[in-house]
Amino acid sequence: MTPRSVRITGWGMYAPERRLTNADLERVVDTSDEWIVTRTGIRERRIAARHETTATLAAIAGKRAIAVAGLQPDDIDVILVATLTPDYWMPSTGALVKEAIGNTRAAAMDVAAACSGLVYGYSVADAYLRSGMFKNALVVGSETLSRYLDFSDRGTCILFGDGAGAVVLSASDEEGGGAQGMELTTDPDGAYMIWLPSGGSRSPASGQTLARGEHYVRMEGKETYRYATKTMATTALKAIERAGWKPDDIDLFIPHQANVRIIESVAKGLGLPMEKMFVNLDRYGNTSAASVGIALAEAVDSGRIKVGDKIVLVAFGAGLTSGGIALEWTADPLNGKRAESVEPVATVREPIDWSSVDPIPDRLRQVLEGNSGPKVPLDDVVPGEPEPAPRDEVLA
Ligand code: UT7
Repeated sequence: MTPRSVRITGWGMYAPERRLTNADLERVVDTSDEWIVTRTGIRERRIAARHETTATLAAIAGKRAIAVAGLQPDDIDVILVATLTPDYWMPSTGALVKEAIGNTRAAAMDVAAACSGLVYGYSVADAYLRSGMFKNALVVGSETLSRYLDFSDRGTCILFGDGAGAVVLSASDEEGGGAQGMELTTDPDGAYMIWLPSGGSRSPASGQTLARGEHYVRMEGKETYRYATKTMATTALKAIERAGWKPDDIDLFIPHQANVRIIESVAKGLGLPMEKMFVNLDRYGNTSAASVGIALAEAVDSGRIKVGDKIVLVAFGAGLTSGGIALEWTADPLNGKRAESVEPVATVREPIDWSSVDPIPDRLRQVLEGNSGPKVPLDDVVPGEPEPAPRDEVLA
């Protein structure tokens, strides 16, 4: 039977305890707190502990969202984990999360849409539920970006952080509520504006790719910025129009938390005051697929969202992807209190007879331990350059 509506019934987030401040970063790259705050709005970000992974962060946020929805783990029929920093290439992080939350019956998979991942995952879950195929879906955005960053590249390492945000979507027999308008776009013209060169079939990981630092995120910051300022506003507007609403009708925007200047330009583009934009990137940085989920959970739990509010989730990311969902809020915000019953721990089964290396990058570990080491020259590894500088020489 097809439902009358599909609504958010649960929300939850988890951010690792360890904070990496701008002052910490001043000790690894040629940057300053002043530059980072004025150019991005970011003051600190969280760093996953050695024992934590994308799956464990996702499991904690997921368990919280399930508790908020008033459900048991086995009530979930499908699990979608949006991430660009999976635990492994296979199995999917979704499969690991299924076991870690104690679910025995759901289908589980990953969504690869970078920072738009939670919005894309939401759209997939919404379609499953509207079709009548499933009743409850868990959608999680989770990232351990600190493991994929070059801590000698000041253009990227200051921006990103670790964390997870989740929603539970449930089919309902009541009319109204939930997503009313959506817009999803993918523009491969910008495929190499944010990318991770090696480890895929085009360039399998090898000693050479490692030496060239091709296992780290690379980004054309300025180009990405230009794209983001344009696309975030148009994507949000299309979703709003599909809902039959106007920008003025929206009570709160939950934008992808990449850069406060991008969010300001979205507000300006839509002719709205910044009070309508939820911002928490000062405390978490850009957590990619997790960012919209973390922001939504914080917005509800801090009293910024009430029943009947019109909300817009909007994101952009590598691909280049963008996604917007205009939705009507129906859940009692006080249900967020139920998340407090969930301990911030999760375990993912380890393979037998195998122990991974310490997952924290060397340069980051030095800062976390209080030793900064020598500053490295600016990274000259630019995408498309024929002979990027070997990492070992740069670090020597
Ligand atoms: O989820 C999507 C992920 N990506 C994004 O959201 C990225 C979008 N882009 C941005 O947010 C911005 O472009 C950045 C924050 C990455 C950079 O800000 P910007 O205002 O576009 O700076 P810029 O790249 O034009 O650089 C301006 C100057 C340059 O120096 P010169 O050439 O003017 O002497 C850079 O070398 O700032 C320098 N710079 C830095 N200085 C101190 C670049 N990064 C840093 C840094 N600290 N971390």
